[in-house]
Amino acid sequence: MQLHQSLLLDNFQIVNERYRIIRLLSRGGEGYIYLVQDLLNNNQICVMKQMYLGPDDLYGIENDYQIFGGLYHPNIVQVLDYFWNDGVFFVVMNYIAGENMKDFIRRQASPIEELKVLNWTLKLAHILRFLHDRPIPIFHADIAPENIVINNNNDLVLIDFGIARAGFEAVGLREFYSAPEQINGILDASCDVYSLGATMYKLLTLQDQPEPGADPRNDNPNISPRAAELIKRATAKSKYMFMGLIPSRYKNMDEFIEGIHRCFIGQKA
Ligand SMILES: Nc1ncnc2c1ncn2[C@@H]1O[C@H](COP(=O)(O)OP(=O)(O)OP(=O)(O)O)[C@@H](O)[C@H]1O
Ligand SMILES: [Mg+2]
Repeated sequence: MQLHQSLLLDNFQIVNERYRIIRLLSRGGEGYIYLVQDLLNNNQICVMKQMYLGPDDLYGIENDYQIFGGLYHPNIVQVLDYFWNDGVFFVVMNYIAGENMKDFIRRQASPIEELKVLNWTLKLAHILRFLHDRPIPIFHADIAPENIVINNNNDLVLIDFGIARAGFEAVGLREFYSAPEQINGILDASCDVYSLGATMYKLLTLQDQPEPGADPRNDNPNISPRAAELIKRATAKSKYMFMGLIPSRYKNMDEFIEGIHRCFIGQKA
């Protein structure tokens, strides 16, 4: 979606009588993201996201952000506030000092070490399982390197609930990372499994996975057969076995986590 330049806010401008713009942080797919100072709360530094979405996409958004705001997890960005201003929806979150994984990958000259990738994947799988296990399940729907921040303690934090919805629906797609069925608006735990598998592919090869289920060893022959198998199964096109030949995708995070554990102990994924 083309962002409207007219929506861009000025530095020092105060929004909703509370948030003073420090500077533009990023031009996201759906709005501008600013570093702001919360004048009502000890001048705390926060991140404010201006969400420029169509009316259909905004339906129910307050309800969803109320649910996201009720999530407390050290590895998930905290939603602190949300409001409407001049007909535009804003979300305020805590600021995570660090670097997003996309920028981190861009700096690499060679693929990330397999053990590190497995550890990161396991960590992310646990964070996602926490979301999936909420009374109303939350599927992130947009797991990709740019939506993961490596903070200054070298820990991973999930950001960007941009297209996540509380429930079984998504309002967007990301090339190379979204599960094929997400194009029909279908969303469940295995969609996040797929995107996490595609993220693993990127970390281990520095390339985008060319198609669902593609073997990462085509891009990096040093990957172990069991890690390659893990990625192939996580990104399998379908959750169902096809004529007993093509492996089916892990249906949920529990299955995927089990696969990761097997990888660690050297068994077949
Ligand atoms: N809470 C935060 N703390 C620190 N940095 C953040 C935070 N939120 C966003 N960012 C930075 O801004 C970038 C864009 O944020 P975000 O992913 O939320 O926006 P977006 O509009 O969804 O962008 P896109 O759709 O292109 O992913 C992130 O990749 C990250 O570098
Ligand atoms: Mg994003």
